[in-house]
Amino acid sequence: METMEEWIRRLPKAELHLHLEGTITPRTLVELSALKGEQASAMTLAEAEALYAYEDFTGFLQAFKAVVTELRGPAEYELAAWRMLEALAEQGVRHAEVYISVGVIFRLRPEEDRRDPELFARIFAALERARVRGERELGVTLYWIFDAVRHFTLDEAARVFRLAAAMRREHPSIVGIGLGGDERQAGSEPFRALYAEAAAAGLRLTNHAGETTGPEAIREALGIGSERLGHALSAERDAALMEELRRRQVPLELNPGSNVRTGVCPSREEHPLRRYFDAGLMVTVNSDDPAFFGATVADEYWLAHAVHGFTREELRRLAENSFRASFLPEVEKQRWLDQIGSC
Ligand code: HPA
Ligand code: ZN
Repeated sequence: METMEEWIRRLPKAELHLHLEGTITPRTLVELSALKGEQASAMTLAEAEALYAYEDFTGFLQAFKAVVTELRGPAEYELAAWRMLEALAEQGVRHAEVYISVGVIFRLRPEEDRRDPELFARIFAALERARVRGERELGVTLYWIFDAVRHFTLDEAARVFRLAAAMRREHPSIVGIGLGGDERQAGSEPFRALYAEAAAAGLRLTNHAGETTGPEAIREALGIGSERLGHALSAERDAALMEELRRRQVPLELNPGSNVRTGVCPSREEHPLRRYFDAGLMVTVNSDDPAFFGATVADEYWLAHAVHGFTREELRRLAENSFRASFLPEVEKQRWLDQIGSC
């Protein structure tokens, strides 16, 4: 008899809210530190694990940055992306749209950035090598989303988005842009013109909204043209907004495990996943930063069943939503929907 876990693994799933750097486990970090070739700089597992300690959302953002600091060049990024792809394949994720924290990369190394303007292009080429190999060897397709940090300057976000627009011409795997960081420090309105510019360049628009902030932040994100919303945890505090999200079927990238672990939601039981689903919203479940939060997307499906009582039929709907809400071409979406139907 196939168990629920086995069936979930077999169910084709897309992951739409996943930060590359947040997939790096302490074990992979040790592996990355050994790549430098200098024995002295290799980390112990305990040293790596210590970087992942945090108490709240602000602490999480700091821990995330500390892990990005360990990624020094193309070789580290390529291995990190490859380990991520292996983990996705293992869970039965067939397509992922992955945030790269481009804003953090530039902020962390101003000196190196000035000295070596081609560094990011080499890092991206390494990520592309992993992506192409993942598609060929593991059957997992990837799109990249360039993520800026909303509490850094507008100029920094402009650089990230314009780079995405420029590189996209040669690399169609760069599908969109997004904004992460601390919503309590900056909303979406300041990015209106940059979002319009990105859309005009053919980029798709995602946005973290309503994670640590109220429904007004979600309205603001919709107001600047965001097509897909990350977290949207506070939407249920505004009935009219809920109705708008339902009517427009705005895809929501929910991350229950993340929200509980960063303390923005008191418990899994209280997470609105079930209520949003029952209200007819376009919900997807995702892992956000699995190495920090301790749950993969396959775990999230299982917990939707165990904690929120999602039946197989309802889990199938979540999987269908994940492909419908993806930025894949329609024919590809249909191909996956057909496969889910017979799973
Ligand atoms: N929210 C904001 N910033 C982030 C996140 C998130 O979920 N993950 C990585 N950076
Ligand atoms: Zn996120």
